[in-house]
Amino acid sequence: DWTMGAYREQAVRAIRDQVGDGKVICALSGGVDSSVAAVLIHEAIGDQLTCVFVDHGLLRKNEAEEVVGMFRDHMNLPLIHADEADLFLNALEGVSDPEIKRKTIGGLFIDVFEKYAKEIGGADFLAQGTLYPDVIESVSFSGGPSVTIKSHHNVGGLPEKMGMKLVEPLRELFKDEVRALGRELGLPDRFIGRHPFPGPGLAIRCPGAITREKLDILREADAIYIDQIRKHGLYDDIWQAFVALLPVRTVGVMGDGRTYDYACALRAVGSVDGMTADYYPFTHDFLGETATRIINNVRGINRVTYDITSKPPGTIEWE
Ligand code: XMP
Repeated sequence: DWTMGAYREQAVRAIRDQVGDGKVICALSGGVDSSVAAVLIHEAIGDQLTCVFVDHGLLRKNEAEEVVGMFRDHMNLPLIHADEADLFLNALEGVSDPEIKRKTIGGLFIDVFEKYAKEIGGADFLAQGTLYPDVIESVSFSGGPSVTIKSHHNVGGLPEKMGMKLVEPLRELFKDEVRALGRELGLPDRFIGRHPFPGPGLAIRCPGAITREKLDILREADAIYIDQIRKHGLYDDIWQAFVALLPVRTVGVMGDGRTYDYACALRAVGSVDGMTADYYPFTHDFLGETATRIINNVRGINRVTYDITSKPPGTIEWE
């Protein structure tokens, strides 16, 4: 892509000018925005960049291995894998209120990020994958009346607290341009096309109190569901799809025996920007086949439902 090739060169120069010989840290989530930002900055300043991948134990099946494998081992980014699952899961024990979950995770995320930033001797800059729509939104919403539906987590207050400046090389781009830039930088298509994944991770897809057992069950079911969607060629047509594990056990029958296991809900939506969404019109065949695969292969689930709520009045995530 000619345009993106030119943008890439210009952005690399701008990053070098801004950063000089300073140090930059970046919270790499594995999402498209932070990934493209990290790879671009790495191209500009090499090992002056350190990425921190905070693993809160609320990731999907194989996610940590895939992200770390790709960035550290394949793309040679200096990357710290902060394996802090125990810290987060212990703090979340017994917590069932969605906002308390979000605030607990968001607060610990900042603590952990700060800890690793200090460990590498601090940094002069914090890199963020802020996009143009984020810039506009925060301007047009400031001062106006607003209702917080869900508190999103980010590393907001950290730059001032730690005396860091921001590096935001994607500030002029829309999502589709970030994807094009990512391709230009050599990120695999499969990675660039990934569905969004929320910062609090599986915690908000597991209504009620979280346990390690529930998370394991959820991860298995979700992996099968996404595999089904890919196999049927539907992945790119869907904005976001996931399984929510319900805090309800139901009676079932398997062979000659009675089962008493969890119910889950499949969620899939079409959307342009995540602000509004319609539930995805899967065929009954697809839904039936997926339910059978999940129940036959995931220990702990004996009932599958499909969530047909649009947004509004629902939200995309369950919490
Ligand atoms: P809702 O559930 O509010 O979600 O309809 C809209 C989009 O935002 C994602 N989401 C989050 N993303 N941090 C994030 O980075 C968060 O705390 C968060 N909560 C929701 C959600 O997955 C959907 O794409």
